[in-house]
Amino acid sequence: MSPLDSSKGGVDPNAVTVDKVTKTFPNGDSPTYALREVSFQARCGELTMIVGPSGCGKTTLLSVICGTLSIDSGSIGVFGHDLGSMSDAEVTLFRSRNVGFIFQQFNLIPTLTVVENVSIPLILQGWNYRKAEEKAAAVLEDVGLGGRLRSFPKQLSGGQQQRVAISRALVHDPKLIICDEPTASLDAKTGHHALELLKRSACAPDRCVIVVTHDSRIFSFADWIAEMEDGRVVKSCSASEYHHA
Ligand SMILES: Nc1ncnc2c1ncn2[C@@H]1O[C@H](COP(=O)(O)OP(=O)(O)OP(=O)(O)O)[C@@H](O)[C@H]1O
Ligand SMILES: [Mg+2]
Repeated sequence: MSPLDSSKGGVDPNAVTVDKVTKTFPNGDSPTYALREVSFQARCGELTMIVGPSGCGKTTLLSVICGTLSIDSGSIGVFGHDLGSMSDAEVTLFRSRNVGFIFQQFNLIPTLTVVENVSIPLILQGWNYRKAEEKAAAVLEDVGLGGRLRSFPKQLSGGQQQRVAISRALVHDPKLIICDEPTASLDAKTGHHALELLKRSACAPDRCVIVVTHDSRIFSFADWIAEMEDGRVVKSCSASEYHHA
């Protein structure tokens, strides 16, 4: 089995295991502690939400799980693979095969059309352009954007751009989907539909969805909730326990 294959054997129920991770950013004489010995798990088959006030480290935690940001200490396992033991090139390949992101800023490419933006993860995996666009168009249809395939991102509303970003994260059917405030610019109905799509993706036993959010309207979609404060996970429990606490 390739070390980059996510389908590692064994019975670990966790898709993601973050163990005592510290991450600092330089800041004059005293570094900013974005993560302070954070331990966190996200289970297969579940939608895990990370909540907490602005600046508490949520985006940093997602970035280290994706391997786009290095850590100072601790370890990160994704589907049983220790990111720290992989080369940068291996982490990049692992990510392109196994992870879909929805960024806090949508990160759409302004010079590409909607359908081209959504095709990117497939093209990176070697699909030909025509087949990639057909698959991208089907996913866009599913989020109600079938009529806007040839528009450019700047011609769309914030909510429509967010749906393009969601489609791009789902198009290659990744095992881990990571979303930073996926509903920030969506109205209640569209946000609900976006979460239905993400929840559907989380349901398979070998899949995992992690959503950072401030949006209490979507808390009901969570299976598990981790609450952060000042670079730490201060509470981690099932969604039903969280709501009754
Ligand atoms: N590239 C960076 N350089 C320096 N400091 C950073 C950088 N990225 C984040 N930080 C700092 O790390 C801390 C955590 O930031 P992070 O973006 O993870 O917060 P967040 O919980 O996602 O906040 P928000 O809800 O506002 O998006 C903050 O104090 C922030 O200023
Ligand atoms: Mg953030």
